[in-house]
Amino acid sequence: MKKILVTGGAGFLGSHLCDRLIASQDDVLCVDNFFTGSKRNVAHLVGNSNFELMRHDVTFPLYVEVEQIFNLACPASPVHYQFDPVQTTKTSVHGAINLLGLAKRTNARIFQASTSEVYGDPEIHPQTEDYWGRVNPIGIRSCYDEGKRCAETLFFDYHRQHQLDIKVARIFNTYGPRMHPNDGRVVSNFIVQALQGKDITIFGDGSQSRSFCYVDDLIEGFLLLMKTDLSVTGPVNLGNPGEFTMLQLAELVLALVGGRSKVSFHALPMDDPRQRQPDISIAKSTLGWEPKVSLEDGLGETIAYFRNLLAL
Ligand SMILES: NC(=O)c1ccc[n+]([C@@H]2O[C@H](COP(=O)([O-])OP(=O)(O)OC[C@H]3O[C@@H](n4cnc5c(N)ncnc54)[C@H](O)[C@@H]3O)[C@@H](O)[C@H]2O)c1
Repeated sequence: MKKILVTGGAGFLGSHLCDRLIASQDDVLCVDNFFTGSKRNVAHLVGNSNFELMRHDVTFPLYVEVEQIFNLACPASPVHYQFDPVQTTKTSVHGAINLLGLAKRTNARIFQASTSEVYGDPEIHPQTEDYWGRVNPIGIRSCYDEGKRCAETLFFDYHRQHQLDIKVARIFNTYGPRMHPNDGRVVSNFIVQALQGKDITIFGDGSQSRSFCYVDDLIEGFLLLMKTDLSVTGPVNLGNPGEFTMLQLAELVLALVGGRSKVSFHALPMDDPRQRQPDISIAKSTLGWEPKVSLEDGLGETIAYFRNLLAL
């Protein structure tokens, strides 16, 4: 049994990670300030003797004894990370400093949930880990993109300077049950709009593409990366390379939900990348990982979750 800290553990990805860790009999300390996460996401774990839930903001130091740390704390969708951009940067940067300090003191292995946003609006396609990115440092997305870039820098400096055992995953769009219903992310948006019989809003002409990874596949990648030895630091891209345009996604959601929603088109927000697709060669060769769940199956699970949630 390992003592494992999961920051952002009451969020979408964090709660699924807690589920998997509890299922493998680990001792989990879930830390969250509940900004975008919710107690409901982990309510089923409360009462389990291997699970502890703590309200804490990672921009402040945390003094606990743990063997592994998964750092997921950070709002992940534009509506939430732009709500208080200064706090977003603090969460990524001060949060990383605090948790790396904790890892150094306890000699813990530490995982960072980084993001494909470190590639910005990329000039190469698909994105490989050696691509340095094209990020606007002063735009409205910069609090998230640059915060995550700086967190990566801190992880690698702690590794070089203090020999910390780090694992950095660059996560591409992931979806599934427990996504926030109002976070403006495209999959949850389309599903909620379709279930409510509202128009499906597409920004731009719908030809911009994204790749979508189902949450169970992604969490499997986290666990495999965390099991690697000291020599594997990442960054490792984790995502599903299958590429779909917004229009294709909207049509698939409409077909699965049924109903009579139509598609409506709106102006594209600033700095919205046109294309995003992971190159997962490193994840395949180093972790033996690749996603298995098809978009249709994953959307089916996600639609069932939102159907229930909206009926509550
Ligand atoms: N879901 C994706 O597609 C995706 C893609 C790339 C990267 N990521 C990264 O994965 C992580 C989890 O994302 P998610 O999709 O589960 O989002 P989420 O918003 O559901 O989860 C983030 C969690 O962190 C918590 N949090 C935010 N600020 C905090 C703070 N200062 N102190 C403590 N807790 C704080 C939130 O309350 C929430 O529970 C994030 O770091 C995000 O940047 C996610």
